[in-house]
Amino acid sequence: MSKQERILVTSALPYANGPLHIGHAIGAYIPADVYTRYHRAKGTDIIYICGTDEHGTPITVTADNENTTPQKIVDKYHKQIKQTFAKLNISFDYFSRTTNKTHHKLSQEIFLEIKNKNLLYQKTVNRPYCPSCKKFLPDRYVKGTCPQCGETDQRGDQCEACGKQLEPHELKESYCILCHKPPVMKETIHWFFKLTEYEKPLRKWIEGNTHWPDNARNFSLGWLREGLKDRAITRDLSWGIPVPVAGSEDKVLYVWFDAPIGYISSTIEWAQKKGDINLWKKYWKQKNTKIIHFIGKDNIPFHAIIWPAILMAEGSLNLPHQISSNEYLNLEGKKMSTSRGWVIWLHEILDKWPTDYLRYYLLCINPAKHDTDFSLTDYKHHINHELISTLGNFIHRTLTFIKQNNKGIIPEPGVLDETDNKAVKAIEDAVNNTAAYIEDYRFSQALQSMMALAHEGNSYFQHKEPWANENNTTLYVCANMVGALSIIMEPFLPASAQNIRRMLNLKKEMKWDDAKEINLEGGHVLGEINPLYDKIEDVEINEFKKNHLKTDKEDKKMSNIGFEDFKAMDLRIAQIVDVQDHPNADKLYLLTVSLGEQTRQLVAGLKTDYSKKDLINRQVVVVANLKPAKIRGKKSEGMILAADVDGKPILLQPDKKTSLGARVR
Ligand code: MSP
Ligand code: ZN
Repeated sequence: MSKQERILVTSALPYANGPLHIGHAIGAYIPADVYTRYHRAKGTDIIYICGTDEHGTPITVTADNENTTPQKIVDKYHKQIKQTFAKLNISFDYFSRTTNKTHHKLSQEIFLEIKNKNLLYQKTVNRPYCPSCKKFLPDRYVKGTCPQCGETDQRGDQCEACGKQLEPHELKESYCILCHKPPVMKETIHWFFKLTEYEKPLRKWIEGNTHWPDNARNFSLGWLREGLKDRAITRDLSWGIPVPVAGSEDKVLYVWFDAPIGYISSTIEWAQKKGDINLWKKYWKQKNTKIIHFIGKDNIPFHAIIWPAILMAEGSLNLPHQISSNEYLNLEGKKMSTSRGWVIWLHEILDKWPTDYLRYYLLCINPAKHDTDFSLTDYKHHINHELISTLGNFIHRTLTFIKQNNKGIIPEPGVLDETDNKAVKAIEDAVNNTAAYIEDYRFSQALQSMMALAHEGNSYFQHKEPWANENNTTLYVCANMVGALSIIMEPFLPASAQNIRRMLNLKKEMKWDDAKEINLEGGHVLGEINPLYDKIEDVEINEFKKNHLKTDKEDKKMSNIGFEDFKAMDLRIAQIVDVQDHPNADKLYLLTVSLGEQTRQLVAGLKTDYSKKDLINRQVVVVANLKPAKIRGKKSEGMILAADVDGKPILLQPDKKTSLGARVR
């Protein structure tokens, strides 16, 4: 990379609709962080930009499910996501959010720019509409069967099974996720982007991008072979960036139109913070900048086709140079699922073990070419037998030996023999190989090249037996191997690197090419030496599984509850005889139910989903022997059973009219 060149690195903007999990971490963030840290150490002009994606149905559906507002959801998760990234040591230069003013303004400007170039048009179309919820059902509001692969229960924007880009009306057997009724088609007007105009230029461009990973290139060339269609870039939703055209103010921009623009608006905010408002143009407009997007594979269609087409249409901005797109991370042999609780949240695992353990293991299993599996047993193995036994051990034995036998002073070397020279050569090889692999986006191999130096150090130390022989030269060479390691491990293991630099008593700042030089001359005095890492014990792994893998835990509970436990529950048929609004809560009802001989007052969170008319006289199943509780100041003497579907209650009801108070077993 020549000196005048600049790099702008981005990671996919995570939806601010939930916490981050280990799949996110390795999908789009840790590789980008390694890449950026390496280039900073090389002295490259590089910035790393990200932020939260705060529009679209991923946000509004979550808000609907949690009975709150989109604003509350994005505020909560923006903050939490930012904290988690800090704990994971992801070194963004700037982390913004797409609800910011700068972003709204820029997105509208780009929309208008493209419109002025005659690349947008309005069209009346039929879109799914839910008569009972009285709203259009864009993107994730409909679920149904994928028309391409036949997988059921897929979301209206994209099939998770085959990756196909969908419009909600293309799903078969579709239903409204709010009320589960089938939608009808209703006319509405939307703005379309002339994507078809870019078929040729995109094909030419992508065919030339031979440096792209296979998944990004194959997917996009495949899509181009099928032929592109113009795409609606507006939605009937009340949350999002308003369409800046008179008559269309009640519509918002499609989230995948505005989200990638977030890469630019975040850069603009970064420039403002730097005090030079034009600085962002250096990265987005000058030709000698390479823009590199790090994403997971489900984001490929947007980054490889739609976003470049929008950039081509806008005309003055740089196209992406690279799309580093990872495959997926699975968990213990199964696809991760946040709704089923089959997931490891980053804030939970980072609370338990040091950040570098996770970064190390995830980089070992980086899903670059195919999906890979995160297994806690395998995690323990990699940490104990590689990170600790190889890297930690070499560093610790070298430094404690110098401390104990030479008062912590690096000795003056004698004449280097063949073995010593081989060890010195290993430093140079590790530095070169690690760099070459990082520049080629091969992060597991890069990590292994760094680790090769620690392996080499251990065998050299073992072979030279400094505890039995004259040892000045050996210790001098080993110390310098540690010095080099402290530089080349930094992109992968930044916290460990800082810790080692402190023990070595070396300055904090490190330049990549210094790793090839002698960093510790004879006479240099080491700092205080502490053990670097603690081994992971089996009990810790078991404990973590028990507490954090929900499905696992629930399955166990399931098969453990005895018949006696079940019998202890008193379930009865009851009839709702009165429904009042709870005086102190918007979403709660005060119900009076009859169990035959007795009536009870219950507080129930049914208001969002059932009207009073729906409830009155309905027969339900009640848990009758729960300890009475006060809910928002009102007594509640039991609970009504309902199925939980995406957070919505669906009441259970006896098959025919049943005598009140009948026991359910
Ligand atoms: N908001 C969009 C991206 C917009 S970019 C202009 C989005 N957000 S996300 O929160 O769902 O995902 C964030 C990133 O994590 C995406 O790049 C996604 O591909 C990646 N991954 C999510 N789950 C993953 C795995 N299990 N494995 C690997 N990457 C994963 O998509
Ligand atoms: Zn509905």
